[in-house]
Amino acid sequence: MRQEPLRGLLLAGGTGSRLRPLTYTGAKQLLPVANKPILFYVVEAMVAAGVREIAVVVGDTRAEVEAALGDGRRFGATLTYVPQARPLGLADAVRTAQPVLGDAPFLMVLGDNLLRGGYGSLVERFRAGPWAAAILVSPVDRPQAFGVAVLDPAGRVVRLVEKPRDPPSRLALVGAYCFDPLVHTVIADLQPSPRGEYEITDAIQGLVDRGLPVDAAVVEGWWKDTGRPEDILEANRLVLEDRTEFRLEGTVSADSQVTGRVALGPGSRVVDSVLRGPAVLGADVVVEHAYIGPYTALGDGCVLRNSEIEHSVVLPGCRIEDVPARIDQSLLGRDVVLTGRPHRPRAVRLVLGDRSQAEL
Ligand code: G1P
Repeated sequence: MRQEPLRGLLLAGGTGSRLRPLTYTGAKQLLPVANKPILFYVVEAMVAAGVREIAVVVGDTRAEVEAALGDGRRFGATLTYVPQARPLGLADAVRTAQPVLGDAPFLMVLGDNLLRGGYGSLVERFRAGPWAAAILVSPVDRPQAFGVAVLDPAGRVVRLVEKPRDPPSRLALVGAYCFDPLVHTVIADLQPSPRGEYEITDAIQGLVDRGLPVDAAVVEGWWKDTGRPEDILEANRLVLEDRTEFRLEGTVSADSQVTGRVALGPGSRVVDSVLRGPAVLGADVVVEHAYIGPYTALGDGCVLRNSEIEHSVVLPGCRIEDVPARIDQSLLGRDVVLTGRPHRPRAVRLVLGDRSQAEL
């Protein structure tokens, strides 16, 4: 049984290439799910698992991540930022953070992965046994896109492969790992993978190869890697389903209809509209003659008039007016303007930034 508290290692670098154009102007980990940055859920879950001294590895988006998380006090944590010069892989991030982690055991998590059940049970299992590492895994349909683990019947890890062409198992590593400080020795000897990165998966394999015990547990509840737009929408659906509480802080006119769990922020105004939860609307949102369906999150200061939307994530400051079709399964960045065009010719006019997507 380990007595000392685990330190934390939070990986918040990366370019978010699969989430462009949203990530041209911000870190992927700060995209909101149910109106809260993904990274906040992750830090809260680390603290809930008893991890308070956290090293945050950051890349090009350092300033933004630091501005959002601050010194960690609001989460009950102490955060130390560690810049990673180049994105050379998860094991390189561990190497970069070693001076901060010292010789303490640690919980490492990826800042863009959400786990419904948090990290508490992983940390407990790791502390209770003789483990050099402990990981969480989950069955997936496309193991080729992940690191995968092969377990023996007792749940010990016998083999791991990163992004296998021919997957030996369907169990993906979900981006939450506990490590004994021994892992630093293995990482010091690591060679880059075919994709040119120092893989944490290879480091764990190194522990197994040295005959050290590595524990694995299958995740209970959902897990979401938020790497792609459809993942953000799905994470938004899952979190709204789980956590939305009915709370109307703004004003709702008598001719409006609110059903299900809807959270409406302060200063918001709903007039002659239909709102069906679970849905969350931030502060100072205006909704007039509109419909908001389930699984929708509207950020602060959005305006929705004469329009319908559901199953969507809308960042702060957007204006949606007189749009003739219902907006569904959509992800809008900050300050986007979508308006109908009442006069002829009946055509669509678009000003879309690089890598935008529109289905008309
Ligand atoms: C990383 C890890 C992989 C893990 C995945 C979980 O992949 O390398 O082992 O399964 O996170 O999200 P990446 O996001 O770098 O493709």
